[in-house]
Amino acid sequence: MAVHVYIAKRYPDFADRDVCRLFHVVSRGKIMLRAVVRAFGDPRQVIGLEETERGTPGSGEVEIRIRRAAVNPSDLIPVTGAYRSRTALPFVPGFEGVGEIVRLGAGVSGLAIGQRVLPIGASGLWQGHLIRPAEWCFAVPDDLADDQAAMAYVNPLTAFRLVDAVSTHFRGTTGRRIGVTAAASAIGKMLLVLLAEAGFQPVALVRSAATATRLAESFSGEIVTASTPALDAVLDAVGGEAGNALFRNIRPGGAFIQYGALSGAQLDPALVTARREEVAFSFLWLRNWVHSAPRATIAAEFDRSFTGIRAGYLASAIDTVFALSELPAALARQDDPSRTGKLLIAP
Ligand SMILES: NC(=O)c1ccc[n+]([C@@H]2O[C@H](COP(=O)([O-])OP(=O)(O)OC[C@H]3O[C@@H](n4cnc5c(N)ncnc54)[C@H](OP(=O)(O)O)[C@@H]3O)[C@@H](O)[C@H]2O)c1
Repeated sequence: MAVHVYIAKRYPDFADRDVCRLFHVVSRGKIMLRAVVRAFGDPRQVIGLEETERGTPGSGEVEIRIRRAAVNPSDLIPVTGAYRSRTALPFVPGFEGVGEIVRLGAGVSGLAIGQRVLPIGASGLWQGHLIRPAEWCFAVPDDLADDQAAMAYVNPLTAFRLVDAVSTHFRGTTGRRIGVTAAASAIGKMLLVLLAEAGFQPVALVRSAATATRLAESFSGEIVTASTPALDAVLDAVGGEAGNALFRNIRPGGAFIQYGALSGAQLDPALVTARREEVAFSFLWLRNWVHSAPRATIAAEFDRSFTGIRAGYLASAIDTVFALSELPAALARQDDPSRTGKLLIAP
């Protein structure tokens, strides 16, 4: 706000509207808006908005004008302080989105000004402009619209990893019943399709009849609400008591992969230990894979994602696109049970 404050002091007779106009003339695009977290806590309380000067890309880096960024549960979890050992304050949230290269640092080759890319590997998408190493930027095909391109990373690539993990566990045998919790979530719907494609029998687990009805519009398989079916494996994003109940019921020789904790609680470790001979329990975090996979492998997975988005089965429903200045409204909508799809931010 420093420039705004200076103008308001220098021209005390100006109305707010005039201060804003002069601010935009003075800044000439050098100032941008960004979301910032300076203390851990409830995302709606601690994510602020501020104006700041754009940086300059260094050697091997590019500057990207963000066109669309997604709002995912995984953007908000670090804000609460859940991963404070690896989250340095202050930081700009947002792990996923699409932008256009506006400046190239020294020594960057293979990328061009005007090219659309997905910058991955670190948070920072909830701001007007982002500087990232060129090696963490992946080209977006021209035929993909910004809205879907902005969601081509986190959920599709995690869904591929989860289905690969199940296939590896069952060593290519098919027909197993695989439960998917929070099955009407964006990633849940992708998993239902990918599991069926891989020869498994997906079982959708949802928490309410209303969600079951909504999911039935796009999924014709088994949908379970408020009971605990016997399953060969569970891909779980919920954890807590619901996760514990599913874990108890998994058939011997099965697997339980936890990749989220929407309930706010993990599985009971004593339970996991008690069944360790019968059920293979593991966590799966996309972040770990992305930071160890070769760039060519990540690029190949993006190609799979783009193909699935074009075909529709990896496209995510969109509830609302908010301007970055409307972030408080976006965060309120994220928690709204009537939300019907993803929220996007247009910085
Ligand atoms: N490990 C990783 O690397 C990784 C990567 C991607 C995603 N994830 C995780 O995957 C999960 C889903 O992400 P998303 O982007 O697909 O979310 P999303 O599209 O925003 O959907 C989340 C849905 O989950 C359901 N839900 C919320 N709390 C629940 C609870 N306590 N019990 C059961 N269902 C609940 C809600 O559906 P209803 O209100 O309709 O019931 C909600 O709409 C998140 O936990 C996220 O962190 C993890």
